[in-house]
Amino acid sequence: MVNKLVYSWITLIILLSDFSLDTIQLIQGMPMQGNTESKVYGEKWRPQYHFSPPTSWINDPNGLTYSNGKYHLFYQYHPDSLVWGPMHWGHATSSDLLRWENEPIALYPAPGGAAFSGSAVIDSTNITGLQKTANSNVLVAIFTRSNDSSPTPQTQHLAYSYDGITFNNYENNPILVDPSKRDFRDPALLKYGDGYIMSLAAGDAAMFYKSTNLIDWTYLSSFGEKPSQGSHGGVWECPALIRFEVDGRELWVLLISINPGGPTVGSATQYFVGTFDGTRFINENPADRVLWLDWGPDNYAAAMYTNIPSPKPTMVAWMNNWNYAANEPTTPWRGQMTLPRSMELVKTSDNDYHVQTFPIDDVKNLRESLLYEFKGEPVTESLAIQHNSDRYHLECSFKSNRTSFGAVKIKLMNQASSEQVTMNLDNLRIEVDRSQSGLTNFSSDFTKLIRGSRILPSPQLSVDLFFDSSAVELFYDKGLSSFTYLVFPTQPYDLISIECTDCTISSLSMYQMKSIWKNDS
Ligand SMILES: *[C@@H]1O[C@H](CO)[C@@H](O)[C@H](O)[C@H]1NC(C)=O
Ligand SMILES: *[C@@H]1O[C@H](CO)[C@@H](O)[C@H](O)[C@H]1NC(C)=O
Ligand SMILES: *[C@@H]1O[C@H](CO)[C@@H](O)[C@H](O)[C@H]1NC(C)=O
Ligand SMILES: *[C@@H]1O[C@H](CO)[C@@H](O)[C@H](O)[C@H]1NC(C)=O
Repeated sequence: MVNKLVYSWITLIILLSDFSLDTIQLIQGMPMQGNTESKVYGEKWRPQYHFSPPTSWINDPNGLTYSNGKYHLFYQYHPDSLVWGPMHWGHATSSDLLRWENEPIALYPAPGGAAFSGSAVIDSTNITGLQKTANSNVLVAIFTRSNDSSPTPQTQHLAYSYDGITFNNYENNPILVDPSKRDFRDPALLKYGDGYIMSLAAGDAAMFYKSTNLIDWTYLSSFGEKPSQGSHGGVWECPALIRFEVDGRELWVLLISINPGGPTVGSATQYFVGTFDGTRFINENPADRVLWLDWGPDNYAAAMYTNIPSPKPTMVAWMNNWNYAANEPTTPWRGQMTLPRSMELVKTSDNDYHVQTFPIDDVKNLRESLLYEFKGEPVTESLAIQHNSDRYHLECSFKSNRTSFGAVKIKLMNQASSEQVTMNLDNLRIEVDRSQSGLTNFSSDFTKLIRGSRILPSPQLSVDLFFDSSAVELFYDKGLSSFTYLVFPTQPYDLISIECTDCTISSLSMYQMKSIWKNDS
């Protein structure tokens, strides 16, 4: 799959001559293990350390929970098709949130309709009355069944599992119906006090319910009705309430996915910061302020893990965009998930808070080898790295002698076909241009310039780039700004260039990442 091309220094210097910078440092890398073709997860553009299903279409992550030493990842799944259709819950499990085992389909379309998005919690104290054996874990999934021809097209259902693999539909489904709402979906569960809070998406608002047994739900309040709060560029979906403590103060974040209306095009996840008193969510920001969880076009339907050992809220999102997901060139699968990310709420100024997301610490365990390292001496403003890696983590830091920082331009290129993707930071402005990144002809929306912003003008900057065949997660300031996007280079990128203006490169490490699917490490 990877052509092992050999370049002379001359070629590279000519290639890089348009940088017109004082220092061009070229690190000749060691030869790397190529991306050996494998029948298992070896297809072109197949992510190697991001979750994707063996075959077929996926969208939202669902039912993210932890039980008996296993993390569960369920997902919206249309088996035997590369496009969306009657929804099932596909399933994978992991002992570390990184290496996944594919499991049989968990939920099927059934009376009541297709199995849309929802979440899962663990009943270990028999609050549901469904426990068979004392002190055993019952995995309880609450999700939407959807049937467009029904007078109540979207209703909430419960299914439960004793082994975490096979599910039973609860006999008195549906457990929650609102005949006045056509859009009434994506229940997200949160343990709160002695019971649970459910957040639901209802058209242009989020609705909150409470329960002590997960079966009988009482309406509490709703938030966000048009035009009062945040972005309403599209329908609201996938709400999630998350509790944080910042400087001794309890604060709450409400995630809302919207489609369309994202900062670039199509799908995106916005968030609100405020308070939640068990009944009502109150936005602390001006109502018209819009905050994006991720500026990239391929981060949608972010959902939170429940019942996990880690004290840090942990999310996973669908790495795709409704505007072109169905037309993407990948086969026999369509869609992947972001790396699991830890989430923090950061106080960025007196009364301002931003959500920071970054891959969980254990992602370090996927490092296979150190490919390149630069420790800041001699002082340099540019680097070019020729490489042969299709899956890596590039970790860099920069420093500037200006408070407003300067500019950092990172380019990934393949020299054979002149394809490139550029990531430019200039002071607070960040732009990602994938218009020349490779195959883009499946959607004109795919080539739109991705724009976002750095949050704080610090003279220190960190950049973390997780590259995985076609899946890219880019983090500035350890995730205070993040950009998730896909690229489809016709040949793998083999050159990285980094160029600083009014700043220098303090350090850089590039790690080869393991494949979670192949035993090649
Ligand atoms: C969908 O609703 C229609 C009308 O109520 C009903 O006839 C049909 O059986 C329902 N389908 C499913 C799968 O529940
Ligand atoms: C759980 O509660 C139900 C209903 O009260 C009861 O029938 C069942 O025996 C309980 N399970 C256990 C293991 O106690
Ligand atoms: C896009 O370009 C590729 C390669 O040139 C071609 O095979 C494919 O048919 C094109 N797709 C569309 C939708 O035009
Ligand atoms: C800031 O750093 C740049 C190089 O990065 C240097 O050219 C410039 O003179 C420095 N400015 C000050 C005020 O130190």
